[in-house]
Amino acid sequence: MKIPKKVKEEVERLRELIRKYDYHYYILNDPLVSDAEYDQLKRKLMELESRYPELITPDSPTQRVGAPPRREFPQVPHSVPMLSLDDARNEQELRERLRRIREMVGREVEFCVEPKYDGTSLELIYEKGVLVRAITRGNGYVGEDVTPNARTIKSVPLRLFKDVSIEIRGEVVMPKKAFAELNRRLIEEGQRPFANPRNAAAGSLMQLDPRITAQRPLDFIVWGFGKSEIKFKRQSEFLKIARELGFKSPDPFVTASDDAIVEYYKRWEEKRDSYDYEMDGLVVKVDEIELWDKLGYTARAPRWAFAVKFKPRERTTKLLNVVWQVGRTGVITPVAELQPVEIGGVVVSRATLHNIEILQKLGVMIGDTVIVSRAGDVIPQIVKPIPELRTGKEKPIPIPEKCPVCGGEVVKEGPFLKCVNASCPAKLVASIRHLASRDAFDIEGLGEKTARLLVERGLVKDLADIFRLTKEDLLKLPGFADVSAEQLALAIKRAKKVPYHRFIYALGIPSVGQATAKLLAQHFPRFEDLMNATEEELMRIKGIGPETARAIVKYFSDEHNRRTIKKMFEYGVKILYDEEKRGPLNGKTFVFTGELECCSRSEAKKMVEELGGNVANTVSRKITYLVVGKNPGSKLQKAKRYGIPILSEKEFLEMIERAKST
Ligand code: IVH
Repeated sequence: MKIPKKVKEEVERLRELIRKYDYHYYILNDPLVSDAEYDQLKRKLMELESRYPELITPDSPTQRVGAPPRREFPQVPHSVPMLSLDDARNEQELRERLRRIREMVGREVEFCVEPKYDGTSLELIYEKGVLVRAITRGNGYVGEDVTPNARTIKSVPLRLFKDVSIEIRGEVVMPKKAFAELNRRLIEEGQRPFANPRNAAAGSLMQLDPRITAQRPLDFIVWGFGKSEIKFKRQSEFLKIARELGFKSPDPFVTASDDAIVEYYKRWEEKRDSYDYEMDGLVVKVDEIELWDKLGYTARAPRWAFAVKFKPRERTTKLLNVVWQVGRTGVITPVAELQPVEIGGVVVSRATLHNIEILQKLGVMIGDTVIVSRAGDVIPQIVKPIPELRTGKEKPIPIPEKCPVCGGEVVKEGPFLKCVNASCPAKLVASIRHLASRDAFDIEGLGEKTARLLVERGLVKDLADIFRLTKEDLLKLPGFADVSAEQLALAIKRAKKVPYHRFIYALGIPSVGQATAKLLAQHFPRFEDLMNATEEELMRIKGIGPETARAIVKYFSDEHNRRTIKKMFEYGVKILYDEEKRGPLNGKTFVFTGELECCSRSEAKKMVEELGGNVANTVSRKITYLVVGKNPGSKLQKAKRYGIPILSEKEFLEMIERAKST
């Protein structure tokens, strides 16, 4: 069949547009069009391609998924070996390495310093601008061909903006938030969670079925090249050109000063947690590429580059005991009590073991030496025991047959143990803690201990009772005096006016986290509408699946829950809907970059939101202000490029004060 010229042109036009939109969305974080508009273009292209399959090319944006599962990955040699890096572990070793490089070169040297992303390395081979193959590092000389999987990663361009032949190397990473979410899902399914974002990225890339890789939120960040048609003069120039070709690459820091590098290293070590991706250090490279050959290589690593590592996020310690915690929904979670160990600046003495199935798969025993990881802001977890270090005195972990709090009946639901007693006091205590937490009603001073006392003394029998508590009630509790009782009573009173989405979140509906609560608040103008929504209605909301829909309907059809909610309103709880929330910062969107001295990011966010403003994570043309703290990131350049007003922290605080007094 002859394909009309018009169709060919239309297909090319659609591909160009989609590629451009993808670049803005996945690389620049700055969408140009709405999701709906984008979907429509993609659908049109798919329709044309299915009508004229001869037109399908491997670099078409429709070709990211679809290859069948493989039995194993073919082995492919690298045209230029992918070496590893030697490490410097501290400031002293860093200075020593810089000195040695300078000595070997015999003159002033400029260094290019980049983050060392903690993921898994990948080489992408482009011929005349088209992605033809993707190979893992393997042993450095021979890697595995994972092309179908790599094609599913949205920040891997299937086609470059220039028709060049080049081997691009970089790190496949999983953003920390996505990692936490993936683990949550795996745990719910009774599967073992990944210990850190690095394992999650590697495990997702190495799936035999590319359809699974496609579901995992992976990102690709460039750090180097193999064979290349373009001759680069400097590493920093390469990173810039990589971005022009369509990749994500870090903003490098170029300097000839050792002190500046040390200073930069210390700053990154401090702010690594506020970054979306896990980093395990920095990489220092000689910027001038001509010097690379001169400096040469050892058997495993170049002499012109090295890594300087941050403090490790994994340590070994002893498992002293396992206690069982009963949560809001009655799920009984095993929690490991550990010999305290410092991990990345935080002392860890407890780690979750998730559920009994994971506990059993780990095969850990009390008394074992275990590897504990604390990845970014994710709760610490046990990676595995080290059975080689057993002495014979280790004991198996007893699995509870009764609820450890109320002694009630225990059932197994999926991988979880659950207490079925509806009035188990532990459930109520956990629900109070959730209701009072910062992202819910934010009642300062209502912690675990107080929650437990309130339940034990019978002052709180359901969540609504919190809002009836008086100073006199609180004075009856041990540890409370005039001032503390007054303060807590006041905090409860102040918290009664609560933004709509935080109210929904506070109820503790199973599977409804903050993001879902926000979706629900956007979708249902009034809380009463949400209370009476059907599963079908809920499932029509993008981002809400059948399980969540079912959980919501189940929650609201429970008489006890409806009564409790009604009582909350009777005791003065008032939902603030968006229009009532309108404040002086209404319609203004703020983005923060760098470290703030006044307060944490979440506190700053709250200040803005309480005055009716919004906070976004990324800079786009739509934002109103960028607030710049110490050591700002790349958002600053982007905001300047867009001409967005930039506020210092002081100016921001002044604006908040002014807004408060209007
Ligand atoms: S350069 C010959 N730069 O770290 C140069 N590597 O420990 C080799 N990595 O295999 C690597 N970020 O997977 C380089 N900015 C960066 C990096 C980086 C992460 C990984 C990479 C490499 C490993 C070496």
